[in-house]
Amino acid sequence: MPSNALDMKVYGGIKLYAGTGSADLAQKVADYLKQPLCGRDIIQFPNENLFVKLHSSVRGQDVYLIQTTSSPVHRNLMELLIMIQTLKLDSAARITAVIPYLAYGRSDKKDQPRVPITARLIADMIEVAGADRYIIIEPHAGQVQGFFSVPGDVLTAFHEIMEYLVQIKPNLKDPVVVTVDLGFAKKGRNVAASIDAPIAFIEKRRVANDAKAQALTIIGDVKERDVILVDDEIDTGGSIVQAVNLVKQNGARDVYVVCVHPIFSSSAAERLAALPVKQFITTDTVPLPPEKASLLGDRIKVLTVSSLLGEVILRAHEGRSVGEMFNE
Ligand code: R5P
Repeated sequence: MPSNALDMKVYGGIKLYAGTGSADLAQKVADYLKQPLCGRDIIQFPNENLFVKLHSSVRGQDVYLIQTTSSPVHRNLMELLIMIQTLKLDSAARITAVIPYLAYGRSDKKDQPRVPITARLIADMIEVAGADRYIIIEPHAGQVQGFFSVPGDVLTAFHEIMEYLVQIKPNLKDPVVVTVDLGFAKKGRNVAASIDAPIAFIEKRRVANDAKAQALTIIGDVKERDVILVDDEIDTGGSIVQAVNLVKQNGARDVYVVCVHPIFSSSAAERLAALPVKQFITTDTVPLPPEKASLLGDRIKVLTVSSLLGEVILRAHEGRSVGEMFNE
């Protein structure tokens, strides 16, 4: 027996669990891995407290819990935490929280006095609940990974999106990729490079203390070009409405909108539906309710991140490189 044998962790098979926030995506990941989703009960009592019970033991197993933290944010978050603790108390050997969309990602710094850094708090809560690892997709800011002290995989959905853009490129006329703000410039460059297109940026400047009082400028050329606007998420739709109007005023031809996380809160779907946009390209990190999707009809294309997650889970389980998937 090797001298450190007692320190070695041995994981059993993959066990997949889903919270109610990611039911469809989790089923697709399960299909990719040819593994069933494990049974569990999640009950909400009249006082809104949640209760979780696993249908079978996870003792010694390598468990992946798939749960997004989009709307209803606090219910989904509590489900995630309670399920992690349940798995821990049932002696899972390793628990990975697979969170396709991480809530509070925009609260990542103390940029004014007397405010929280809630993304850090969320990371702490996930660890305290008992997660040994985490997998997240396209966090709003990369530094969120520094809030976790357990290891994790921070993934991008842009490989899926870029593959799709390559497919539709023959239908585009002089395409240009435009980032909705300067913060997205680096990722925008990768998207532009993938389809061998130029890049332009929208620069937003606050002109008064009112959050809505902004001046927008385009850096780059969109005139008589098909425009691909890219951003990490669409929340209320305010940024994208302004961006679409700006590129149109500057002579853009057809406009395509790309975002990884379709949050589409309040009346975002209605606002988007009214825009002169040829296609909205997004992913299933956040489930899109049918009534919102139907407002956009066949103008919305939802790409799935299930094979990305499935492959990363498989590699994590087998102890193989994830970077290799992306030639890193
Ligand atoms: C902001 O920095 C983000 O990249 C998005 O532009 C923002 O979250 C979109 O929010 P909304 O749709 O409410 O304008």
